[in-house]
Amino acid sequence: MKPRHFLSLFDLSPAELRQVLHRASELKIQQRRGESHALFPQKVLGMIFEKSSTRTRVSFEAGMVQLGGSAIFLSPRDTQLGRGEPIEDTARVLSGMVDLVMVRLFDHARAECFAAHSTVPVINGLTDYNHPCQLLADIQTFIELRGAIGGRTVAWIGDGNNMCNSYLEAACQFDFQLRVAVPPGYEPDAALLQRAAGRVVLLRDPWVAAKDADLVATDVWSSMGQEGEQPRRMRDFAPYQVNAAIMAQARPEAIFLHCLPAHRGEEVSAEVIDGPQSQVWEEAENRLHAQKALMEFLLLGGKSPL
Ligand code: CP
Ligand code: NVA
Repeated sequence: MKPRHFLSLFDLSPAELRQVLHRASELKIQQRRGESHALFPQKVLGMIFEKSSTRTRVSFEAGMVQLGGSAIFLSPRDTQLGRGEPIEDTARVLSGMVDLVMVRLFDHARAECFAAHSTVPVINGLTDYNHPCQLLADIQTFIELRGAIGGRTVAWIGDGNNMCNSYLEAACQFDFQLRVAVPPGYEPDAALLQRAAGRVVLLRDPWVAAKDADLVATDVWSSMGQEGEQPRRMRDFAPYQVNAAIMAQARPEAIFLHCLPAHRGEEVSAEVIDGPQSQVWEEAENRLHAQKALMEFLLLGGKSPL
């Protein structure tokens, strides 16, 4: 039987996504109470990181240990991947040895290729195209703090990057209205925009995007791999900083999210990210809980533990 993968939010149905997030909140309570939930002894997660990471690495590794298993960190520098071993051969070999694999790669097509050749579930821990695990945490954070997200208004301000693409996926799967404000030339994926038609509005003006929003989100102006474009991006994105004036357009109870790492004074002012509407630390912690629920779901073959 083909394994279930999680390369995008479309790999789970809306009902399955809701179930995973419900379970994430349960696991969070258990974790905070110190109640053991070592449900998967002996299970091993392999993690391939082509790019740097703090949150993704620690949340998957700690999460797997808390579930009773263990995780192995692999980077191209220390593996044969860095010496040209094909990704599909790596997938075949790893899936004979571990129970789950998480990949953080530049090229999304390589993540898809890995999954196509893996006999165990593969989780996308970020590619240049999207970042679905982060959206599990973001939506969990919103639901825990403000209730159901269906029908709410979310403003994405800044770069139409991998995070923005996953917000488009989330708008479809969680049924919210998404306003994307990006400078010309920095639009999110065209096919995703089309797929989310009816739930997304593409704008240029961040003030219009933020008006009466329930959630305001942004991300760095230069993603990993785009360091050489930084001077041009700093100029192009200058009007897109999420600051107090932008947040004042949103609903008074609106929350601010950022996947982190953040650059204060660039995409977000220190006043906002360190201010009362910011929920970025809760959001970061929820990576742990959401991914534990996701790993449980995939280890159980896509069945509900409830
Ligand atoms: N948000 C996120 O994915 O952070 P890391 O790059 O630190 O994993
Ligand atoms: N867009 C950022 C997200 C980092 C978690 C990047 O790809 O670098």
